[in-house]
Amino acid sequence: MRQSQRFATMHPLDETMESMKTQLSFDLPAGTDTELLAVLAWDTQTQKGPDAKPEPTLLTADEQITAAVKSVLAGGEFKAAANETLLLHAPAGLKAKRLLVVGLGKQARATVHLVRQAAGTAVRFCKPRGLKELVLVLPEPGLFPLGPCCRAVAEGAVTADFDADTYRSERKDLSVNSFMLVASGNVDQDALKMAFAEGVIVGESQNFARSLVNEPGNKLTPTVLAARAAEMAAGVGLQWEVHSTDKLLELKMGAFAAVAQGSAEPPALIVLRYEPEGVTDGPVLGLVGKGITFDTGGISIKPSDNMEKMKYDMAGSAAMLGAMRAIALLKPKVRVLCVVCSAENMPDGKAYKPGDVVTAMPIAPDRPGKTIEIINTDAEGRLVLADGLTYARQLGATHLVDAATLTGAIGVALGMVNAGAFSNDDATFEKFSAALQTCGEKFWRMPLGEEYADLIKSDIADIKNTGGRYGGACTAAEFLKVFVEETPWIHLDIAGMAWIDENRPYIAKGPSGVAVRSILEWVRSFA
Ligand code: BES
Ligand code: MN
Ligand code: ZN
Repeated sequence: MRQSQRFATMHPLDETMESMKTQLSFDLPAGTDTELLAVLAWDTQTQKGPDAKPEPTLLTADEQITAAVKSVLAGGEFKAAANETLLLHAPAGLKAKRLLVVGLGKQARATVHLVRQAAGTAVRFCKPRGLKELVLVLPEPGLFPLGPCCRAVAEGAVTADFDADTYRSERKDLSVNSFMLVASGNVDQDALKMAFAEGVIVGESQNFARSLVNEPGNKLTPTVLAARAAEMAAGVGLQWEVHSTDKLLELKMGAFAAVAQGSAEPPALIVLRYEPEGVTDGPVLGLVGKGITFDTGGISIKPSDNMEKMKYDMAGSAAMLGAMRAIALLKPKVRVLCVVCSAENMPDGKAYKPGDVVTAMPIAPDRPGKTIEIINTDAEGRLVLADGLTYARQLGATHLVDAATLTGAIGVALGMVNAGAFSNDDATFEKFSAALQTCGEKFWRMPLGEEYADLIKSDIADIKNTGGRYGGACTAAEFLKVFVEETPWIHLDIAGMAWIDENRPYIAKGPSGVAVRSILEWVRSFA
């Protein structure tokens, strides 16, 4: 293991991850003594039109619970819309102090992902009310595939407990201490235990990514990000290496080094490796993350409005680190390596400038690195990724995926609904697309093509780092494609999705942790 000298004296940031105790039980729910018992409901009304009243129906066969809510449901004010809640105090015939019904929406449109959200809604219902424990009833067998449902509940509950206000000095601890899922009836207990444990790992890994993204730029510098990555890696048994400027120069990472040179904070090149025992051939998956801990735009400086948001310009690298954590714990039989390129993009006397020409890392000693004309120093993400992708290939990656808050343009194109995905290989994209079905994250495939490539031709060098305003997300992706060449590759532009501006019933505003689950699922689909 190599590590820079600086680390020996460094104190990692306080662990801000709240750990909620999670449990799976197979007892009958009505007998559970708890602060809050939560049960799901959907609307079984199939008719449309003004006279078609919602028919909220519980997803449990438990007679006592059904009896306790019968009259309230008949009253009609609760419609079982997605994430709608109904609270009953001292429910008759139940041991629980309160009963919460959470809606899933129309039965015909209900998905496992809506169950994930509903579990989150139940947890977030507890938080402002100071309720510290919660028991949720898993839907009856036959309504959903139970394993995925069980996993999704765990994910939804764990991610819902996270809040971003970690630097408030008089912060009230509103986290839920204990979450229990009850699965009764004729179920495969071992399978459900596995699925539940998996969901907890995935949720905690997503929260780990979110806790990194949440840190301000003065707290989470590239060096600190590297320390957090190393600490995580050591904790879960991943091999890790951290390097800085010297190594960038040694590897001739001219593009990454150019971005870093304007900051007093040294860059960090982080490499994590997951090598499962006995797996010596087959694919090597390369996960590459953009880790700009603060993006001022550099000399092409950004306007001050919303600039504070640019602390989350390392969300791509956080997603990769979160995915690596989950991979290490879930142990799929496929080799994975992760390269994070972290720097701060600053204006300075030493900063790189528009018009500069930089040389990217060569893929092999006998092949010169590509030359890049810098048009805009705010298009820095593609520069650090160019060298990160090349390095991952040099380290043996046979398939690549990168995640980056790369362009504002992707948010303009897709809103805060879908993240963007690009690929140079249909089969690889199909695998990714299939992985999305399980994990409930939304990515929309965007186009690449020669017409976009034409827009980043330079008069003086091999390519330039921006292609103008139109199709900005596509020209950025086309820029990365120059460096992956024929290696099957997926590029995830998460700029529009990495930060949630408003609280949602099932997740707090702030860092979303997007892409952790998709990347993990994609990796597992190779095993
Ligand atoms: N980090 C930004 C992209 C971004 C924008 C992330 C909004 C999150 C929210 C990226 O480095 C950037 O500045 N991109 C420029 C590219 C342009 C100069 C070609 C952009 O999108 O404006
Ligand atoms: Mn930028
Ligand atoms: Zn950026």
